[in-house]
Amino acid sequence: MYQGCKKYIPFHPISLPDRQWPDKVIDKPPIWCSVDLRDGNQALVDPMNLEEKLLFFQTLVDIGFKEIEVGFPSASETEYEILRTLIEKNFIPDDVTIQVLVQAREHLIRKTFEAIRGAKNVIVHFYNSTSTLQRKVVFKTDMQGVINIAVEGAKLIKKLTDEETAKSGINIRYEYSPESFSGTEIENSILICEKVMEVLEPTPEHKLILNLPNTVELATPNCYADQIEYFSRHIKNRDSIILSIHPHNDRGTAIAATELGIMAGAERVEGTLFGNGERTGNADIMVTAMNMYSQGVDPGLDFSHISDIRRMYEKCTKMKVHERHPYAGDLVFTAFSGSHQDAISKGEKYMASGATQYWEVPYLPIDPADVGRQYEPIIRINSQSGKGGAAFVLEQSFGFELPKAMHPEFGALVKNACDKAGRELKAEEVYEIFRKNYIDVHAPYNLKKYRLHDAGEGEVGTQVRFEGVIRFGHEDHIIGGTGNGPISAFFNALRSVGITDYQFVTYRENAISSGADSQAVSYIHLTAPDGSPAFGVGIDNNISLASIKGIICAINRAEQKKKGEMPV
Ligand code: KIV
Ligand code: ZN
Repeated sequence: MYQGCKKYIPFHPISLPDRQWPDKVIDKPPIWCSVDLRDGNQALVDPMNLEEKLLFFQTLVDIGFKEIEVGFPSASETEYEILRTLIEKNFIPDDVTIQVLVQAREHLIRKTFEAIRGAKNVIVHFYNSTSTLQRKVVFKTDMQGVINIAVEGAKLIKKLTDEETAKSGINIRYEYSPESFSGTEIENSILICEKVMEVLEPTPEHKLILNLPNTVELATPNCYADQIEYFSRHIKNRDSIILSIHPHNDRGTAIAATELGIMAGAERVEGTLFGNGERTGNADIMVTAMNMYSQGVDPGLDFSHISDIRRMYEKCTKMKVHERHPYAGDLVFTAFSGSHQDAISKGEKYMASGATQYWEVPYLPIDPADVGRQYEPIIRINSQSGKGGAAFVLEQSFGFELPKAMHPEFGALVKNACDKAGRELKAEEVYEIFRKNYIDVHAPYNLKKYRLHDAGEGEVGTQVRFEGVIRFGHEDHIIGGTGNGPISAFFNALRSVGITDYQFVTYRENAISSGADSQAVSYIHLTAPDGSPAFGVGIDNNISLASIKGIICAINRAEQKKKGEMPV
């Protein structure tokens, strides 16, 4: 069935048995160059208009990019005009170098030099394709023919640069890409780059950027890393070049290729935000940078407001960021499984305890707050969330710290609701279930008035008096009772109207704040007349009244349960 695969020629990796890169660790960021406005833009169904490109450019500057490929000005009038606007309206900060791409062809190079007039710092990036396949089927030329194109292009670029520099003092640097590098014999790649170097005469002070594109990702990322290391070790005058990489994502491993490429000696990376670019895209610079960040390496780019960046990106490109996209996707800080939720909860408590200075939370490789994401949407509830999951949401999103004994009952209520809805529940929906089942429970006993006051010293110490009005059976009843604490006073008051069958087991309290207000929440555990546990919740500004409300709630819930009336 899969005999069709036989038509593909397997990639032939180069031989590099003494490769060094596998033992290298990335401990500093490369020079980042965004190619969003060129490679990314050329791959859009609707390329960006002027306004969108300007907005995108400004965002790239804000993120911290110092090298930005702004377009292909010789390719179209629109591209030309956008570049002119950036220059003429002074949108380019002095510490940012714009990069322009051009094929190594005379009329295109001349047009490009017209387009960059008036800019301060420019990288003129020229390229021609060098791969075996392109030589055979596109250019129908040998390697010497391809070298001639690059050398002629380099000569013209050098001449025009000398003229422009003399005229305006513009700072022009050069970049050359042997396009389709990864499909080119490695010795030929080195040869053509050295021929270009002979023309441009880079020095350690004025380096040439040699950019080695994985134009079409043809093999596993280790093969690309071998090519990069081999090139880095064999190119002449290594200290006069900046070795740049430009991985594409045809096999879905562009980020891996970028990381291994850096380990193999690359000092500069070209890529895009969210990996937009031709076909399957370019390497995703945001993910590469945040991967470094998660290893304790400052990438030099600021993604602390990732959702704003994403919104800008989606607006300008009309592309969508996938829900699972690392660091930026809607679901990447979400845990569905109960055991994950539990582990995250424990990790957060561990962090809050101050026992560590590092980020040590299971299942969350970075602190969502570092990319401007919030804890609130981290956990959403589905029927597999486990009994602790629902309680976790209440605690995380609303501050209710349900005692462990309540978890199974509340978890079952939430699971039922999930099953009924046939989908996951949002945090607000989990709260709604809690509210209906534990807070808004005022029947059959409705405590309408209540007051606690000191009742002086009794035999066992200070006495407390409860007085109030409770409505049941369509009538209001005045109740009163004294005890050595608010809870026993209230139980005694209930006895005065015949409510005698409930036993107090335990309670727990915590404070929740909404705005400037702080309220006490009391979780009450009673034993019902049939011996089953009865839980209730009370909220009040006064902690004692919160407990009293919790008791009446627990009794109401048990009574309703007896009649099969509990809401879900
Ligand atoms: O992918 C590629 O090879 C390119 C070059 C023009 C650098 O985009
Ligand atoms: Zn590209």
